[in-house]
Amino acid sequence: MTFDRSIKIAPSILSADFANFGQEIRAIEDQGADWVHVDVMDGHFVPNLTFGPPAVAAFRPHVKTFMDVHLMIAPVDPYIEAYAKAGADMITAHVEAGPHIHRTLQAIRAQGVKAGVSLNPGTPLDSIEYCMDLVDMVLVMTVNPGFGGQKFIHSGVEKTRKLRQMIGDRPIHIQIDGGVTPETAPLVAAAGADVLVAGSAVFKGGSVAKADVYGENIRAIRAAATAAQK
Ligand code: DX5
Ligand code: ZN
Repeated sequence: MTFDRSIKIAPSILSADFANFGQEIRAIEDQGADWVHVDVMDGHFVPNLTFGPPAVAAFRPHVKTFMDVHLMIAPVDPYIEAYAKAGADMITAHVEAGPHIHRTLQAIRAQGVKAGVSLNPGTPLDSIEYCMDLVDMVLVMTVNPGFGGQKFIHSGVEKTRKLRQMIGDRPIHIQIDGGVTPETAPLVAAAGADVLVAGSAVFKGGSVAKADVYGENIRAIRAAATAAQK
């Protein structure tokens, strides 16, 4: 995958029909999704439980684009290999999930997958200052992780602007996750974000049988963000 800063929409399958992931993934990709975002939660780092490595391995053959695996788990290091073997194209770990984010990012890259680092809304940017040469993406959380459908936290916009400066010319994506809608997407796109995760705003009103609604929702977010990008 070549690097560019065009807007990429990454629907979170946390908002999909849990009895029908194969068809849901196909539907969002047919309707224009650029990446597929998989939210892994452990009931410990975040108050919710989702997908173990076998579930992610089952998604893999259905994903034709790029499988972006967001690990909201602690500890994270013991599970990196399993999620890489399950077929993740990128693994993102939280800086708050352990004392050794640098080691974690090295371990992700050692598996031959792209590495992302994520910051909760309350975590400052300087926590990743010395990890910039180890990451392909920084994920700025604009909700407290754990659930879909929460309200966008606006301090993420200023954080994104500062992060964009910190990145400079490095080929590092800025991803936004939480409360992304056609209303909030332009704020973060103008600040420098290029990968927008959206769960409820992509899946709302649609279904595998009404997949055209997914397409309308994806296009609305992309259009609003692209128009705001500098
Ligand atoms: C939150 C997850 C998000 C979530 C986003 O913990 O990391 O990916 O699914 O959902 P929305 O877009 O509904 O805020
Ligand atoms: Zn996520």
